Amino acid sequence: MIGGSILYCEIINKDKKYHIPAYARYNLAIGSGKGAKAYDVDGREFIDFTSGIGVNSLGYSDKGWAKAVAAQAGKLQHVSNLYFSPVTAELAEVLCEQTDYAKAFFCNSGAEANECAIKIARKYSFDKYGPGRNKIITLNNSFHGRTLATLTATGQNAMHNWFFPFAEGFDYAAAGDIGELIKKADNTTCGVILEIIQGEGGVVPLSGDYLEEVAALCRAKDILLIIDEVQTGVGRTGRFLAAEHYGIQADITTLAKGLGGGLPIGACLCKEFLGNVLSAGTHGTTFGGNPVACAGALYVMQKIGDPEFLDLVETKGSYMREKITYMPGVKSVRGMGLMIGIELENGVSSDIAKKCIDNGLIVLTAKSLLRLLPPLNISYKDINKGLSLLNAVLSKNTGETI
Ligand SMILES: Cc1ncc(COP(=O)(O)O)c(C=O)c1O
Repeated sequence: MIGGSILYCEIINKDKKYHIPAYARYNLAIGSGKGAKAYDVDGREFIDFTSGIGVNSLGYSDKGWAKAVAAQAGKLQHVSNLYFSPVTAELAEVLCEQTDYAKAFFCNSGAEANECAIKIARKYSFDKYGPGRNKIITLNNSFHGRTLATLTATGQNAMHNWFFPFAEGFDYAAAGDIGELIKKADNTTCGVILEIIQGEGGVVPLSGDYLEEVAALCRAKDILLIIDEVQTGVGRTGRFLAAEHYGIQADITTLAKGLGGGLPIGACLCKEFLGNVLSAGTHGTTFGGNPVACAGALYVMQKIGDPEFLDLVETKGSYMREKITYMPGVKSVRGMGLMIGIELENGVSSDIAKKCIDNGLIVLTAKSLLRLLPPLNISYKDINKGLSLLNAVLSKNTGETI
């Protein structure tokens, strides 16, 4: 049993007393980390297969990343968006060159990146067609954030409670059903938002055929296709963008999570014809494009932009999926690259996640699945160590061994 020390108890008591209890936290207080290893406040080691829900793309406290971030913090930590900042301009250039987009807007989170995308879609349509063409269609089982608009965009009824009234102008279609999308995409529709793999929804991939049909429908009706790559982007699936697996480029792509390597940054990338939709005064954020966050992101881009690095993400992901397939109690394994969903025969993933922590391994859940999002540069040594811990937990759980 972990988490019983005086230090640990002091931390959780303070947190429980002073922090709004919006999170169901595990019995774990992480004090430091190195690479794919996290250490709790009492110094106990864990293999971390989560990277902070896909955020620490280069693991904990990567040396080069920490140096780049510290150097920028020592030089200039913030500059208002009323002025130009060299590091922010450089990140915009690097991101656009990497993804073949024309322009970037920086914000602080995935939800904010999606808010920006929604605003571009609505204003593009307003400028071109006038009022009334403002509907955004999203897919059932999607997740797009926790702000009021992105919560509304999230296609899960369970999320549409308590906070009424929700934002107007959203509709939902079944993921994978092009017929339903065609019916719903009427002349009041300005945008469609989707994830290539629904992450929070349980690592559910959309098919290439469906994605191509959606892209063709959007093109034919001048509806903007927005791909939310907050979780799948920045190399997570073995390509810089998951859409690259299908040769699709959305009109707008949103990024966050892994982009800053652990610092809060989101980006909304758009094609040339959308580049001037958000003119001065129509959108903004105090912290967006923060130089320290951008310096972290530039370091991440330098590493992850390398095709060999991305190939390794793909290879390591296949290796992990293959090994997990044969573990006891595993019904199926899905995902791409280092975004992995594990369907268990008994389906009770949160219990298993707790048992993993007790055994020195940190994993995520998504609906009834276990979800793994390890650091993109995780070593085979740490992969094998983590897999053997997972195997031990699953074996104990089913009474089998492999
Ligand atoms: C696909 C997707 N979009 C948006 C978000 C929201 O990002 P954030 O929590 O940074 O606002 C998430 C977070 O899990 C996500 O997975």
